[in-house]
Amino acid sequence: MKKYHFPEGFLWGGATAANQIEGGFHEGNKGLNIADVLPGGKERLTILQSPGFDFQIDREKYDYPNHEAIDFYHRYKEDIALFAEMGFKVFRMSIAWTRIFPNGDELEPNEEGLAFYDRVFDELHKHGIEPVVTISHYEMPLNLVKEYGGWRNREVITFFERYVTAIFNRYKNKVKYWMTFNEINSGFIMPIQGLGFAIQQEEDKYKPTFQAFHHQFVASSIAVKACHDIIPGAQIGCMILYAPVYSYDSNPKNVMYALQEERMFNYFCADVQVRGEYPAFIQRYFKEHNIELNIQDGDLESIKEGTVDYIGLSYYMTRTEKKEKSDLEASEGNLIGGIKNPFLQASDWGWEIDPEGLRIGLNQLYDRYQIPLFVVENGLGAYDKVEKDGSIHDDYRIDYLRNHIKAIGEANEDGAEVIGYTSWGCIDLVSASSGEFSKRYGFIYVDKHDDGSGTLERKRKESFFWYKGVIETNGENL
Ligand code: BG6
Repeated sequence: MKKYHFPEGFLWGGATAANQIEGGFHEGNKGLNIADVLPGGKERLTILQSPGFDFQIDREKYDYPNHEAIDFYHRYKEDIALFAEMGFKVFRMSIAWTRIFPNGDELEPNEEGLAFYDRVFDELHKHGIEPVVTISHYEMPLNLVKEYGGWRNREVITFFERYVTAIFNRYKNKVKYWMTFNEINSGFIMPIQGLGFAIQQEEDKYKPTFQAFHHQFVASSIAVKACHDIIPGAQIGCMILYAPVYSYDSNPKNVMYALQEERMFNYFCADVQVRGEYPAFIQRYFKEHNIELNIQDGDLESIKEGTVDYIGLSYYMTRTEKKEKSDLEASEGNLIGGIKNPFLQASDWGWEIDPEGLRIGLNQLYDRYQIPLFVVENGLGAYDKVEKDGSIHDDYRIDYLRNHIKAIGEANEDGAEVIGYTSWGCIDLVSASSGEFSKRYGFIYVDKHDDGSGTLERKRKESFFWYKGVIETNGENL
């Protein structure tokens, strides 16, 4: 088998988000956030993609798996020790905004929340693991959603600035790698998680969406500048959900359509955050949809000055597009739609598996931006079975990860500068789109089930030992 030579210092590790692992949703003065009001089970995706969600907790009807999650809040020491056993160089996690500012609009941060992340960062450093921190990962304070209308309200920029200033000052000696908004472009498909508001049926979906993006771009640029000022030498990236778009065939109409979808979904946000300006193609789109953004004095200058140092990306699937697709089978379950690609298999949740697409995507991104790329999410959500002797043989996951890591190796040889890989859900966690525990991604199994039962005991899966070997050999032993 071909050996890959990853660069010295390649950032191997795993990725999570606060709301999907921590639990302790009321502890340490934490306030409620969006994830706390999202029910578990397959209904969650419908809620996320439909208009009119009311952001209320209804315990009669639903369970709320993020409330306890996998209890990382109390078990972080045990979990970090397991990451260290695999040899993680980095651990991607997020800070829950509501632990630091429970309602989002306070003037002073919550000391208990700040102290919690101090303990987590110290524990990581004790094991020689560098934290990679997402500032906002689908965890907007609920108060900002309900009282301010989420990111469509410009005032939220001020609250975000207060939040980032507090965490940069507090953790300036502990965190070198940062990212602003998780999968910022997911606001197009799941505005509740990404932008903090539900599109109302009667309202024009375009204007509020782009206005909210504009506020996030300004907020991101402020965060980048503050990070560089407060923590010299720190690296701060954007984070996009990257699902390269293929044209269904060589019909130029379909090729053009695929290009338009590619630019809008995959590149629009990155263009602004990396290049510091709105791309030319969006002007035509705004004109045709009568969108006039409210851009205030200084916004565009701020965006220009606050460009990111690297691109963080999640990669799970590609998407195949055709202009008129009514006669073709839709790609079942592919989160971002498109039509079924006959060359690809799909996961149990219908996400099409395409390692070659990762190589293609990394090349495309590097050709376009020429700044370092960091694959901060990739993995296989699958049902795992615990054998009688307690072992878990997840060879399907090993195959998936091996093929994707090879694709990164190829992309590096092609000339793309990929600085790291953090596999998603390195420990089993609550699924973001389905709220299930049974959609497992981890190297570490957590005994927790969709009905809320389980001891929360951790177990090493077969992939745990495999990944340890990958890191030990810097990607040579795949
Ligand atoms: C990304 C998110 O979309 O994909 C994560 O950043 C999420 O939060 C991951 O968990 C996998 O998606 P899911 O729906 O399987 O949890």
